[in-house]
Amino acid sequence: MKNALLIGSDEHKELFCRTFVESHERYEPLELPWPVLDDAALARLRALPIWDMALQAETNAGAMVTGFAATISDPVVRDAVALQGFEEERHGKLIGTLVDRYGLGATRRPPELEPTQSQFVHFGYRECLDSFFGFGIFRIARETDFMPDSLISLFTRVLWEEARHIVFFVNWIAYERVRRGYGNVLMQAIATALGYVRALFDMIVSGKKMAEGAPPSASNGTVLPDLSLTRLLDACLAENERLMARFDERLLRPRVMPLLARGVVGAMQTGEQLRNVVAPRGV
Ligand SMILES: [Fe+2]
Ligand SMILES: [Fe+2]
Repeated sequence: MKNALLIGSDEHKELFCRTFVESHERYEPLELPWPVLDDAALARLRALPIWDMALQAETNAGAMVTGFAATISDPVVRDAVALQGFEEERHGKLIGTLVDRYGLGATRRPPELEPTQSQFVHFGYRECLDSFFGFGIFRIARETDFMPDSLISLFTRVLWEEARHIVFFVNWIAYERVRRGYGNVLMQAIATALGYVRALFDMIVSGKKMAEGAPPSASNGTVLPDLSLTRLLDACLAENERLMARFDERLLRPRVMPLLARGVVGAMQTGEQLRNVVAPRGV
């Protein structure tokens, strides 16, 4: 086991920034081996109501994170955040390429977020939420053959990048709070809870908007595989665990979503057992 690391120390900062920069992967979205899709896969892809929002989210993130990086005085942190900005912009290009290549009909719009620290913090919590669900959704898409493996495998690098972003974020924010004198456990817990509540609210609002714009076929089971909540959460937890195991054990990991998901799965299993005990037998 490696030596414990003092959160908020220079050593901590060096480790979370270096881990992030050294695990960066080089690729160019246009040069990826985009597969030719059959009509059924194309129809499933086109019916997903997410493309406008996904393209906008990555465009916003790229510009905001890059702009925020330029305001950071510490060169080690600045370089790492600038690299995240580059990766978010590349996600925008990747989704843009996907949209063009398969005719998904999303419109490119200019970025909308101010490049400030408070936006970066809000975005960080939102990423912790979105990535956790993204991990599970991709795992299920692969397991159910929703999309051919040749396409899904192009996105495994994005999942890994998002895992790196959220690990970087939870370490950066813990480091920042200690440096600013807000490092005690209660203050950290309150600030984290507020961050997640705000992100969750944001997620619900955008989910509603997306549902309103969705074609009817997207919600009636012909496009998306039929999913139970337990299966989705189990997939999120398994994929999250697999990705998080790749990081240095001394770094912090996002804990709230896995904790909540485990709680929900546990409660549903208990409910199921109770129903089995209480339910009249032989019916
Ligand atoms: Fe991204
Ligand atoms: Fe990200």
